[in-house]
Amino acid sequence: MARLPMRIVPDPILRTRAKRISNIAPSLQRLIDDMVETMYAEDGVGIAANQVGVLQRVFVIQLPEDEEPRVLINPEITRREGTREISEGCLSIPGYRGMVTRSEKVRAKGLDRNGKLVRIKAEGLLAQALEHELDHLNGTLYVDHLIEKDQIWKLDPHEEEPDEDEPSENPAPPHSPGYLQYLRRTAIAEP
Ligand code: NI
Repeated sequence: MARLPMRIVPDPILRTRAKRISNIAPSLQRLIDDMVETMYAEDGVGIAANQVGVLQRVFVIQLPEDEEPRVLINPEITRREGTREISEGCLSIPGYRGMVTRSEKVRAKGLDRNGKLVRIKAEGLLAQALEHELDHLNGTLYVDHLIEKDQIWKLDPHEEEPDEDEPSENPAPPHSPGYLQYLRRTAIAEP
């Protein structure tokens, strides 16, 4: 297994739709192992393939309470229920969090790494992660879901454990207007 370099905004691959996987090849197994290792190394709860530079429809998710990573190939969300407002971050947008609207509950399906159909009923953080990672495969970032365009804030690098659900009292402005404008761009390119 190898840790892969993360793609960071404004890398255009993050705005590109990933392609459906038609063959569960050994190279895909290696990619999945590398994505899991990279997710652990980056201390994230999920990684989608475009974030490591590969335009294939696969992501991995592992919540703090999960013993094993979940792998979903060609994922789809089949049902969304309710909405909630929650803070969110992304390994490809380091140093920021924003307030977004997400579903309360989702149902998802896809293939596991052996090609077997899996169905997931999720709520809370798992539902949020499924929506976030599927978005990546469609070239969408959480900044496209900000409740208000200025509801994104810089994390205090000195704060060891940022309070994930409380925006700071005085959110720092993003480093340039162009950066925020890029983040909010919604055009999606085909590969
Ligand atoms: Ni992300």
